[in-house]
Parts: sequence; C-alpha cells; structure tokens
Amino acid sequence: MNAAGIRCATTDDLDNLITSNAGAYVTKSATPDPRVGNPSPRMKGLPNGSINAMGLPNHGLDYYLDYVLADQKKRPDRMNFLSVAGITLDDNLQMLHTIQDSAFNGFTELNLSCPNVPGKPQVGYDFGRVQEVLTAVFDFFTKPLGVKLPPYFDMAHFDQIAAILNRYPLAFVNTINSVGNGLVINAETETAVLKPKGGFGGIGGASIKPIALANVRALRLRLNPTIAIIGTGGVVNGQDVFEHLLCGADMVQIGSKFGFEGTPLFDRLNQELSAIMATKGYTSIADFKGKLKTL
Ligand code: DHB
Repeated sequence: MNAAGIRCATTDDLDNLITSNAGAYVTKSATPDPRVGNPSPRMKGLPNGSINAMGLPNHGLDYYLDYVLADQKKRPDRMNFLSVAGITLDDNLQMLHTIQDSAFNGFTELNLSCPNVPGKPQVGYDFGRVQEVLTAVFDFFTKPLGVKLPPYFDMAHFDQIAAILNRYPLAFVNTINSVGNGLVINAETETAVLKPKGGFGGIGGASIKPIALANVRALRLRLNPTIAIIGTGGVVNGQDVFEHLLCGADMVQIGSKFGFEGTPLFDRLNQELSAIMATKGYTSIADFKGKLKTL
C-alpha cells in the first residue's frame, strides 16, 4: 500500500489507489483544519530517493473522514487507514474524538513522527511524551489504532520505545517515517535544494532501506505479538518487500517510489514478490514472514 503523504492528499489520489492493485490505502496525515504547508520548493526527487519538508499540507480531518466513510459504505469488506498528525496533543485528541464518534471502522494511524513543522519536535523522540499521548488517547479511543514512528538508531532506544508501546492496546506500529532532517545541497549553486527549514527535510527511498529493516526487525523482536507491524522505508522492488516481510512486517508501505511511479508500481511489486516466492518454493507469506536468519 502507499505510505501516508504520498499521492493520497486528494479524492482523485485516493480514487486511484482504490482502483489499483494496492492492498489498502492510507490518507494524507490530517490536522483538524486544512493547512497549506510550507513554501516551495518543499520536495525533491533524488537519484536514490527523495527529500521533503512539506509541512503537513492537507484538507483537514473532515475531508478525509468523509472520504473513508463513503468508501466504507461502498466497500464494507475493505479496511483502510485514516492518518492523523495533530501538531498539539489537543489537536490529536480532538480528531480522535471525532473519529471515535463517527461510523469509521477502519484503522487509525496516529502519526508521532512528522519532522517538518518548524519548531515542533517529533513526538516519537520524546519517550515521556509518547507515553503521555498514548495514555490520553486510550483513555477513550476504542477503535483499532496504530502509531507511525520515526526511525531509531540505538538498541537502548528500541528497548525503551517497545516497553512503552507494549503497555497499550495498539493494533499496529508503522516503522519508519522518513529519516528526519537530512540536508541535500546543489554544489553548483551552493544552495540547499529545499526552501523550508534552511533546507532540512525528511529523507526517503532506497537509501533508507537498511534503517527501515533494522527498525522492523528490532521492533518485531520486542513488541507484543498482538501488535502488527507495517514496514515502510526503502522499498523500490519486490525484493525489498520480501526483505521487509522477512524482518517481520505484516504489511508493507511505499512512499518515495510510489511518488515516482504511481499506481502501476503495485502491479510490478506484486509480480516481483510472487516471482521471488515461486523461485524459493514459498506458497504463502506465512512461509517466511519474520523468519530472518542470523549468523
Ligand atoms: C509530513 C511529513 C511527514 O514525514 C509526516 O509524517 C507527516 C507530514 C509533511 O511534511 O507534510
């Protein structure tokens, strides 16, 4: 499926996802009110990925909630994902109350890892704050909910975040969001390529795959088995999907490459994954999911 933010901000984008070979879709992370986001240029394709500092441009929660509710009526057998990324805890609680009180019965993805709003640190890097947010959320929210996490880079941090997440009835964890605050420079003009934040932005695409796989694997080894894992980061071909599944992902999302290729990407990835499985003699994902070997 797509990763939040990529070709999923408008009803046209979402209609395209519905008619594609993607297994599900997730809507652009919503804030309570519409936002225009950061000034352009705010996204740039790179030889092996992308950098972005979009700043949460979106049509507001009602727009996306209306869409998923209408879709749910038309296709009651399909489960999809509504992403929310409040800039404050109050924003998140307000949106989650609206979702709780609605007829929505799909998954809610609470984004704790947007790196692009100036002056607003990523919640996922403040473990005390993660706990505070989840305690407030699960005080009233009873629908299936997961969190989108930033990448972690230290074994102690994997232990700490997993211990916190295991205290809550999470349906899933989505790992990873973009690698926050990279810097891409045009050497010829001696200028940062993005305008917002002095050029700092989230890095996605092939170059982040080892970080994504490490986070999927480390969290799969630490989280309660009841918490599913969505693996996101660095997927450009069927082998990358295979590797995410081998590390323990239950579902896989694609950001940068979906941005470049659009919905035909899902046909290609399905074919490539099927070919790898056929070569290896696997007939179902369960044959290899989470079964990474170590030396
Ligand atoms: C944006 C970027 C993210 O990585 C994210 O998780 C949410 C929003 C953005 O800049 O719009």
